[in-house]
Amino acid sequence: MNLSNTTQPVNVVVSGAGGNIAYSLLWRIASGDVWGLERAINLTLLEIPDAVRVAEGVAMELADSAFPLLSSINVSDSAEQAFDGVNAAFLVGAKPRGKGESREDLLEANGRIFTEQGRALNAGAARDVRVLVVGNPANTNAYIASKAAPDIAGEHFNAMMRLDHNRAASQLAGKLGVPVGDLDGLVVWGNHSDTQFPDIEYLRAGGHRLTERVDRQWYVDEFIGRVAKRGAEIIDVRGSSSAASAASAAVDHMHDWVNGTGGRWTTVALPSTGEYGVDPGLVFGFPTVGLNGRFSVVEGLELSEFQRERIERNIAALRAEAAVADSLF
Ligand code: NAD
Ligand code: LMR
Repeated sequence: MNLSNTTQPVNVVVSGAGGNIAYSLLWRIASGDVWGLERAINLTLLEIPDAVRVAEGVAMELADSAFPLLSSINVSDSAEQAFDGVNAAFLVGAKPRGKGESREDLLEANGRIFTEQGRALNAGAARDVRVLVVGNPANTNAYIASKAAPDIAGEHFNAMMRLDHNRAASQLAGKLGVPVGDLDGLVVWGNHSDTQFPDIEYLRAGGHRLTERVDRQWYVDEFIGRVAKRGAEIIDVRGSSSAASAASAAVDHMHDWVNGTGGRWTTVALPSTGEYGVDPGLVFGFPTVGLNGRFSVVEGLELSEFQRERIERNIAALRAEAAVADSLF
């Protein structure tokens, strides 16, 4: 491939580079699944000192994969160094939950990571950096990172709820017998936690409403809980938390942030500016469309009592997490 005509390489950092998600994510990024086949990539693998050796091994394997798009591969255990001039950061590095734990249980342990990384991003990242927080509890970690980076606009900090969105889409496609790629109008409101609300009120395919085709009892009694608890189900069955599907969702998210969604809805958790009564600043899963390099919340939707109640539950949960997070500063 001739990269001589490409624009400036994109500087990408993946934290937690020695971990499970990164082991899939790095290969997808390096093969052009986010920025396409014409954009060279400078890749930095960020790890803690104890795991830097593992990250070095991962870097060796990346080199052995001979990706034409990879201009450089660096390994670092310094957030300040890694984030200097970064254009896109996948903040994956954090402890995953084990069996029986909730994602919120990770807040104290993982929250501090995001204070430090937010500060380092504030110091050195490009002002239009795209930061995607994957490490749990993802919404509140993004809230923390954004708060620690006051010189970077809040909309540059997203938390990943695309995995929830993809899980919901897959379940619906199977139930309805509709190709998953045809589905639109799906959203998972709120928090990447058990309170999340996968909402089919606006579900459509090919411009036709599908909502009425979904059995209401299945939707309320099975689907919502199945999607919300899918992470725990994977931990139970696989023995460790989802990794390849999480990496795939991270690629989907960043791809759509950069390239847009062509008018289709996706779920993005981003800092609220008060939409749908969500406290400003809380990082909340909203229906969004990607256009011109940014995500915009789909506004003006009418909400039923059923929807409002579930959205409120998420607002309350994120408010409580934010109160704990605020005490970390
Ligand atoms: P893992 O334990 O396999 O890897 C995590 C890596 O992060 C480790 O190598 C660790 O050394 C590193 N790390 C820890 N602190 C760091 C720091 N300060 N800087 C850089 N690296 C650091 O875990 P995993 O399976 O890759 O999962 C990572 C996180 O992603 C977990 O918190 C998990 O719960 C979360 N997750 C989120 C979603 C989502 O949908 N948002 C989905 C799956 C997993
Ligand atoms: C997931 O949803 O798979 C991840 O958030 C991991 C977890 O703890 O459930």
